[in-house]
Amino acid sequence: MPDPRTVDLEPLKKEAALRAVALIESGMRVGLGTGSTAKYAIEEIGRRVQNGELTGIVGVATSEASDLLAREVGITVEPLDPRPLDIAIDGADEIAPNLDLIKGLGGALLREKLTEVQARRLIIIADHSKIVGQIGEKSPLPIEIARFGFLSTVERLRQIVPGGRLRQPGAQPYVTDNGNYIYDAQLAVGGDIAALERQLKGTLGVVETGLFLGMAERAFVASPDGVRELS
Ligand code: 5RP
Repeated sequence: MPDPRTVDLEPLKKEAALRAVALIESGMRVGLGTGSTAKYAIEEIGRRVQNGELTGIVGVATSEASDLLAREVGITVEPLDPRPLDIAIDGADEIAPNLDLIKGLGGALLREKLTEVQARRLIIIADHSKIVGQIGEKSPLPIEIARFGFLSTVERLRQIVPGGRLRQPGAQPYVTDNGNYIYDAQLAVGGDIAALERQLKGTLGVVETGLFLGMAERAFVASPDGVRELS
């Protein structure tokens, strides 16, 4: 097995994406994820739409960036409405053995959760670096918070998850597509994740968390040894 630190992850991400896109059939309404892995899926859907392999596809994008990319590659994009989606394909930051996920390092967690909760099937695509034994092992947990009074919300969050910080790549905080900020929390590994999700969702100022619990149907996880399917 090659040293994981020297493996080029891009071909692996693409391989996982192609496996998921193979599940799409003509006429489907498809949730389009966000991030460097989901990008390969959007490009492949576009390729199949362009060459006529897939017809009547409608995409619902989980970010402005994915919306733009989808239109560029020729996918018809519609806003989210109450109708179910046949399938959604997206990346993740952590994948636990029971397919609980951390998502949102790319900042799109709110639109991702709003979209993917309406999907009959949520298919996760990733390289092997995203696999963890327990949620919180590798990735911070992104929490989208309202901008108004954000310092107070950060204080409330610090009472619940002491480690963490407001996402601030430069002089100003990172702003989501929804005009909100993100607090990246460090979780204590091994706690009751479902209880934590309830507590965070009940915290004033919290808009949404990057915990996607019980939502994914399966994951295609690519490593240099091939693509593993988890369900
Ligand atoms: C964006 C997400 C992404 O799906 C997640 O960050 C994985 O991204 P990448 O495929 O670039 O590693 O949740 O909000």
